[in-house]
Amino acid sequence: MRKRIPKILVTGGAGFIGSAFVRRVIATRQSSVAGKQSQSFEVIVVDSLTYAGDLKRLNWGLSPKGTVPNFYQVDICDKQKIDSIFKKENPGIVVHFAAESHVDRSINDATPFIETNIKGTQILLDAGRKYNAKKFIFISTDEVYGEIANGKFNENSPIKPNSPYAASKAAADLLVQSYIRTYKFPAIIIRPSNNYGPWQYPEKLIPLAILRILGGGKIPVYGKGLNVREWLYVDDCVAGILAIMNKGKIGEAYNLGSACESKNIDTVKLLLKTLGASRNRFEFVKDRLGHDIRYSLDSGKITRELGWKPGVSLAQGLKLTVAWSLKHQAWLKSKLKDINKLYIN
Ligand SMILES: NC(=O)c1ccc[n+]([C@@H]2O[C@H](COP(=O)([O-])OP(=O)(O)OC[C@H]3O[C@@H](n4cnc5c(N)ncnc54)[C@H](O)[C@@H]3O)[C@@H](O)[C@H]2O)c1
Repeated sequence: MRKRIPKILVTGGAGFIGSAFVRRVIATRQSSVAGKQSQSFEVIVVDSLTYAGDLKRLNWGLSPKGTVPNFYQVDICDKQKIDSIFKKENPGIVVHFAAESHVDRSINDATPFIETNIKGTQILLDAGRKYNAKKFIFISTDEVYGEIANGKFNENSPIKPNSPYAASKAAADLLVQSYIRTYKFPAIIIRPSNNYGPWQYPEKLIPLAILRILGGGKIPVYGKGLNVREWLYVDDCVAGILAIMNKGKIGEAYNLGSACESKNIDTVKLLLKTLGASRNRFEFVKDRLGHDIRYSLDSGKITRELGWKPGVSLAQGLKLTVAWSLKHQAWLKSKLKDINKLYIN
């Protein structure tokens, strides 16, 4: 009898990290078809294609055979449509990336964050329960812990979010925890640090800085640029998510950080150097409201239990990101109009 290939339903698969995850799973499937030993999955993507979603990301780098077969342009807040997708596809695994993801937008208007990040997550959890999903991976964020001036957050640190974005993710994170406890729902929570890499929407610091260097204008740096972020290259993040999906313990939370901490001003200066641009191409702008000073994760648990370690340093990752950006300038510049509405300096 032919073995059934397990199905993964990926929400937010047309987004930055979700698409990198989908591409990796499909590429792995292609290599296992070609005879190499690796776990193979069928992938279904659900994404409503907000301003942040883009189908171009999904097929990038895959052979024609590797194109995503099942794409549903559906809002995760649409309970009926989500129910019918689960009924039809009956996925064994759900990996839930879909979210409103930009802190500045949440400060301007928290409404879509509450809808998608909280209500959308509840709808997916209920569909997962109803149709008996075997594993539900929730992509949370390091921002649920709030800021930390010294030391690191571990998985038992209190959830104490500061921005409306982080609060909406924390609410979803807690909701997932409540389903684990109340219904013994087989979920795992992953809390990654700041990601960067190819195909990131250029409203976030690193691609915004590259876009400004390539497209003209100065890079806006909040305050005095002293806020520290822990930068995780997107392929390392995807490898960590796969390790947790395949071998992580049900009911647990895992931090997923790189330990590559850098002040925003230093990150921008490193980028200017990588691009060979003049050192004065940035300007300090009025600080973000409620700006968290530092995020820092203790990611010892995933390394000890699953053997995952980040492989790409910040300097290497920026080189890779810049190389990709130079080849995809048209895509980055196509988002310029939208970005200029956000950062009027
Ligand atoms: N980017 C980071 O640095 C980072 C760090 C930690 C955690 N995360 C989390 O990882 C996940 C993915 O982040 P990202 O940077 O790839 O985000 P992104 O903004 O690039 O992509 C989000 C995707 O979700 C889709 N989406 C939004 N609302 C939807 C809805 N109502 N229904 C269906 N689809 C919808 C969008 O169309 C888009 O394709 C998010 O949950 C985010 O909170 C991101």
